[in-house]
Amino acid sequence: MTRSIKAISDGEKFESEWRGAFGSVVPAKGPVKKSANKFVVKTNLKLTGASNLLEEARQQFGFHHDNILPCPGYAFLKDQTFLLFPRARESLGTILINMQIERTAMVWNQRLDICQQVANGLIYLHSLQLVHRDLTAGNILLADNNHIWISDFGRLKAEGQPNPNASGSQSAQHSQPFQGVYVNRELKDGDLQLAPELFYGTITTPKSDIYGWGKVLLNLLQGKYNWRGWSNHPNCAFHMCPDSCKHLRWPDKSKEKPRTFTSLESIIAIDKRLGPSGTPQSKKLELFRRLAIECLAIDPAQRPESMEEVLERANSIAGTSISSLSSLKQPGQQ
Ligand SMILES: Nc1ncnc2c1ncn2[C@@H]1O[C@H](COP(=O)(O)OP(=O)(O)O)[C@@H](O)[C@H]1O
Ligand SMILES: [Mg+2]
Repeated sequence: MTRSIKAISDGEKFESEWRGAFGSVVPAKGPVKKSANKFVVKTNLKLTGASNLLEEARQQFGFHHDNILPCPGYAFLKDQTFLLFPRARESLGTILINMQIERTAMVWNQRLDICQQVANGLIYLHSLQLVHRDLTAGNILLADNNHIWISDFGRLKAEGQPNPNASGSQSAQHSQPFQGVYVNRELKDGDLQLAPELFYGTITTPKSDIYGWGKVLLNLLQGKYNWRGWSNHPNCAFHMCPDSCKHLRWPDKSKEKPRTFTSLESIIAIDKRLGPSGTPQSKKLELFRRLAIECLAIDPAQRPESMEEVLERANSIAGTSISSLSSLKQPGQQ
């Protein structure tokens, strides 16, 4: 860690694993060659990001759960924060993007195992009265043996805390009324993958992570990264919207009309590589599809009560006997 920190703060050039607007993640430099590929260091690129990242580090350092990315050490030096992590193989986001173009794809049990591990990590966070608030496939990392780590605690908030995206004030700069609440930021494509109440809700609740988990299940059922978020338009693609789509995208005046929502139900088609329809397996997948739709309800009150309930229901679908599935109708079936 010390070597990595010195190299980064000396401005030494080395290949960046990932570089975003506020921070970067780079391979760590170890004392022996063997450790070179085992760790990464996350650091802020802008001075203003240092204190937020330090808060992120303090929180993550205190977490101890198999499905939470461990942070064995962190440091704060000259307005820069450094977090040390074991190196993951890849993110679920990358896996989903690749899955879309592969002929053979991950079997269902493996996909379900990912969902179960993510649920376990969320149950742990929620037991600490914390909400991740940014649970997307890009923030779910896979280590060797398909072990799952939930990562990126930059948006973490305590349950019951005010939602920082809802200003609650008409006079606030950069605000716009939306469903009766003033939201104080522009929505970007990536944000639209998140639970909608993060932009109009006033209080932080674990229901937003239930939405995020539903999105992960949806992606795995579809066998691809589903870029579509919540929208009022059947052909809304966010970054390439048709003119008629009026999703909230301020300050673009042509799109200032507030959104209404449509159900995601019509757009969830199950990955054909998971087997033909009409089989017991496809009937189970239909039950998982319904669970995903429930978790993705626009109104948080319509979602399952807790992550424990979600996991119990997923486990119970997985264990459902074949005979009890015979009366289940598939979509389009009379
Ligand atoms: N432990 C890790 N191992 C490998 N890659 C990582 C690790 N942590 C983060 N990354 C990569 O860096 C990216 C950004 O990290 P993240 O913590 O999500 O930062 P941000 O808050 O900027 O999104 C991730 O999407 C992932 O590709
Ligand atoms: Mg991230």
